[in-house]
Amino acid sequence: MEIIAAANYEEMSQMAATFLMHKVCNARKVTLGLATGGTPLGTYRRLVKYHQVEGISFQGVQTFNLDEYVGLGKMHPGSYHSYMETHLFRWIDIDPCQTHLPNGEAVDLKLECARYEELIRSRGGIDIQVLGIGSNGHIGFNEPGTPFDTRTHVVALADSTRRANARYFSGETDVPYQAITMGIGTILDSRQILLLASGIGKAAAIRHLIEGNKDRQFPASALLDHPDVTVIVDQSASN
Ligand code: F6R
Repeated sequence: MEIIAAANYEEMSQMAATFLMHKVCNARKVTLGLATGGTPLGTYRRLVKYHQVEGISFQGVQTFNLDEYVGLGKMHPGSYHSYMETHLFRWIDIDPCQTHLPNGEAVDLKLECARYEELIRSRGGIDIQVLGIGSNGHIGFNEPGTPFDTRTHVVALADSTRRANARYFSGETDVPYQAITMGIGTILDSRQILLLASGIGKAAAIRHLIEGNKDRQFPASALLDHPDVTVIVDQSASN
């Protein structure tokens, strides 16, 4: 695991965008695994700039998002479909048929999880998976206690996660109770992983990760088994 220190959020975002652009520019086709939340916003802003200012094309890119809330329509402002449209997809020339998220409105959620897994597999797997980290160590929506070999599945969100995400809704009561998430096993199948962490709220989780003890109660520690993980942390997250 390579740990890269950035001075602040802006520098972390620039480093992450450069890392991803390197892949996008050097491969005819690339599959990115994407995260939502506050952490990657600066990275996505920079990717948009690479397209709009420098003319970098995303036509060879396909994407798979980590997760989506159960019960929210694609157009719901709190959905991750909507987040991705607002912050990235609508501003770049990616083919909409090449952007994938779990369908949180599926009638049969179990079937939807199996469909998503199979789609990732049949499209050749993920080249680089971008991850944030929860203050409790979650990756995707894999909360503490999740076995490290899980595939895409439905989860009950931890209270701390619902509280942390309430800022994207009109209040905590509006945050869905369930989500579909790639499993830890699905994430570990990615050929490369880029984990980003910013802010004092992530410092304890980053310390725990760097300590290097594998522990089911700390989902991000599953990454210790992966051969190609880069962690970019800003100064406040590395204290
Ligand atoms: C988002 C996701 C989550 C977030 C994590 C950190 O798709 O799967 O694991 O990466 O909750 O969220 P932020 O970046 O908002 O602190």
